[in-house]
Amino acid sequence: MRLSEKTIEIVKATAGVVAKNSEAITTQMYEILFTTHPEVKELFKDAEPDQHKKLAAAVSAYAANIDNLGVLNTAIARMVSTHVRVKVQPEHYPIVGVSLLEAIKKVLGDAASPEIVEAWKEAYFFLADVLIAKEKEAYAA
Ligand code: HEM
Repeated sequence: MRLSEKTIEIVKATAGVVAKNSEAITTQMYEILFTTHPEVKELFKDAEPDQHKKLAAAVSAYAANIDNLGVLNTAIARMVSTHVRVKVQPEHYPIVGVSLLEAIKKVLGDAASPEIVEAWKEAYFFLADVLIAKEKEAYAA
């Protein structure tokens, strides 16, 4: 699957504002995630207190490089190995995705138009599919 040109354009155009607010967005995301799905908390039991910063950095780097994802290969490999260590499963991705999109809406307010949220949704699930496929390979190995 490929990302649509429109999504690439919108994500690039909003990469700056999302990066500027990325720590607020990811802090909010974990709040939403742990409230709506407390069972997922268990996975984060050994996480550093700055886990939201790692996710914020990953989201910002992804948005900035959405048309040149090869740059992110090393970062993606690291995410995969950490996710496999803590046993992240494919079914966790939609839960995290919904929480992230809600957090973007909450933090950006009116600036997060439906078109922008839709583009980020497509971009999130694109990256999720990449991670899920690589994690599947790692689990099988
Ligand atoms: C596209 C979606 C996702 C991205 C971009 C992402 C990104 C990251 C990054 C950058 C790290 C730190 C890796 C490291 O430096 O070791 C990480 C760790 C982690 N992620 Fe994700 N992640 C995603 C989805 C998920 C999902 C769906 C879950 C499941 C609830 C999850 C749970 C975790 C956990 C538990 C850690 C390790 C925390 C720790 O013990 O340090 N992630 N993720």
